[in-house]
Amino acid sequence: MNLSATQPDAAHHVSHVAGWTLLEFGMVDSTNLVAGKLGAWHAVRADTQTAGRGRFQRTWVSDAGGLWLSAVVPTGANREHWQALPLVAGLAVIESLKAFSLASARLRWPNDIMVNERKLAGLLVDIFAPQLAVIGIGVNVTNHPDVQDTKLKATSTRLADLVSKPPPLATLTWAILASLKSAMDVMAKTGFSALQPRINELWGGSRRVTIDLDGVQRSGLFAGIDDGGRLLLRENALALSAFEPHQVRLLREL
Ligand code: BTN
Repeated sequence: MNLSATQPDAAHHVSHVAGWTLLEFGMVDSTNLVAGKLGAWHAVRADTQTAGRGRFQRTWVSDAGGLWLSAVVPTGANREHWQALPLVAGLAVIESLKAFSLASARLRWPNDIMVNERKLAGLLVDIFAPQLAVIGIGVNVTNHPDVQDTKLKATSTRLADLVSKPPPLATLTWAILASLKSAMDVMAKTGFSALQPRINELWGGSRRVTIDLDGVQRSGLFAGIDDGGRLLLRENALALSAFEPHQVRLLREL
């Protein structure tokens, strides 16, 4: 990846928020790319992104009014920890949203935040430099993603459609960064297993799913994650299988 292609607006605002140094821009190509040049505990927010990055090389519509935020965290040497980062970020975002009266958000493995069957937020973890991960967080707030991509009308939702008074972006940024820092601190001190029960509360019940293990399909009941962050699939009463996150290319809810 050529990070030198990233040219954010020169003008940006710097502040210190809950243990983070936050850089805020008007427009960038992708906050993940800008954050990829920074050190641990830096965060980047932009009003709009011209090349917002989604999973599987998709474009993420990033119009004004949404929260486009990236946070740089140390990965450490523990593989279990960095593999679990999308889940830790999902926990931080959902717990923050609850504080703004959104009780109904759930996590769809590994990194979508859903309300009913619509996507409210997406997470994308990029690793551009050794020992550092960029956690990208996109939340639809008062923006109108379906104007740019009409297919999103049926599949996405926004905080403005779900709560009577969506918080200002500055408040939401602060809450998510504070929650992410505290989850990262727990993981560093006590290990991922301390977060597992909190994450397993967020799936909104168990569902039938198909997972794609790089071409091989397996179906069963999604049973959350184990204390090492592995996906648990119950294929029948006797068989509960655990899969490392990198083994699972795609999960489809049935
Ligand atoms: C997905 O669901 O496909 C992941 C979407 C992640 C979008 C966010 S917006 C902030 C950060 N910057 C990016 O370019 N992408 C992430």
